[in-house]
Amino acid sequence: MRHIHPFPARMAPEIALAHVAELAPDSVVLDPMSGSGMVLSQASRKGMKPIGFDLDPLAKLISKVGATNVNPDLIRKRANELLHKVENSCERGESITLDWIDSDPETSKFIDYWFAEKQRHQLRAFALHLIATPFTTSRTILDFMKVAVSRLIVTKEPKASLARDTAHSRPHRTILQNDFDIVEEFHRSIEQMLSALKPHEILTNAKVYKGDARQLSRLEAGSVDAIITSPPYLNAIDYMRGHKMSLVWMGYTIRELREIRATSIGSEKSMHIRDSEEFDELHDALGLNELTSRQTQMLFRYYIDLKALTAESARVLRSGANACYVIGNSNIKDTHVRNSEFLKSCARSVGLKLVDEQVREIPNNRRYMPISLNKENSLSKRMRTEHIISFEAQ
Ligand SMILES: C[S@@+](CC[C@H](N)C(=O)[O-])C[C@H]1O[C@@H](n2cnc3c(N)ncnc32)[C@H](O)[C@@H]1O
Repeated sequence: MRHIHPFPARMAPEIALAHVAELAPDSVVLDPMSGSGMVLSQASRKGMKPIGFDLDPLAKLISKVGATNVNPDLIRKRANELLHKVENSCERGESITLDWIDSDPETSKFIDYWFAEKQRHQLRAFALHLIATPFTTSRTILDFMKVAVSRLIVTKEPKASLARDTAHSRPHRTILQNDFDIVEEFHRSIEQMLSALKPHEILTNAKVYKGDARQLSRLEAGSVDAIITSPPYLNAIDYMRGHKMSLVWMGYTIRELREIRATSIGSEKSMHIRDSEEFDELHDALGLNELTSRQTQMLFRYYIDLKALTAESARVLRSGANACYVIGNSNIKDTHVRNSEFLKSCARSVGLKLVDEQVREIPNNRRYMPISLNKENSLSKRMRTEHIISFEAQ
């Protein structure tokens, strides 16, 4: 299956598909951390009722567009109209003001570092017509166009930016000059998206919101038939590092993105440890005494996050419904941390009953881990498994 936009560590399609295939056709399927949108996309192709949430605005956008039916001819028509406006703005050579960039020195500096002049100019024109004063079309089409631009920024090799590896969440500036023409490439990007999306296969549109998996206040208790999701591992991937490059063109300042990052599950922020017998027992049983006090605080925060996540899952699921989590383990320096054990403990404490656990090797092409761990050693080998754990709501 091809994807409309790169995303580091997305859920394996076969896992999402296998779980979706077991559900009744009109099921309400929730992915509270929808990421690349793999789960929502599979559910929308089965005619189910997919609902997604993500804190990361780019994940929210990609997962929504990946599970929304569009008319390809209308998309092409609107793409032409947009390009016309962008070309006009570029040719007139007018300087385009974008408030969130021009009134914020940190965001301007970031853009000057990662983008060359030609692409800065073109991206300003796209941002003007897609974000600042959007041209007249539906929200669905605007969102589609935003993804078409973003996938030229979040790339493996430099395209719209000066960086490589942005798609792996670790941008490195590898060039200082850039001839890439975003305006010229835009049509191709639209066509690639349409052929990856296969809109005719999408039977129902997903509802996707910017929101926190730990507090899904939009959802009523007992309103969900299945949860399929993959929480971030502790300290494994900083999704926002690559996504920032695109989101600064979508109305966000670097400061806003930093704040979102700090509230994400799995970030390296620590937390003052409160009394928790469960945490202490687990910490000892898993042999984590080698961790420094800061690392233990970080782990504690992750544990509290998982607890809030599972409690909210238990609240929104109808009785007898299943929640499936795909979670890998982490290494903090030399210590192996079994995130899966923390998840199981949290789920148990909020009344979710363990019904199945499978462990599988993470295939090479999906593996992503910090560079220092990428070499062949026993730790990186241990990190190559992921646990697929299912619980039943009482
Ligand atoms: C491993 S990815 C999800 C993968 C997804 N199931 C897929 O198929 O691509 C984890 C996602 O969790 C999101 N996330 C982290 N903390 C969150 C929170 N508190 N609420 C909602 N989403 C969160 C991240 O932004 C990221 O997109």
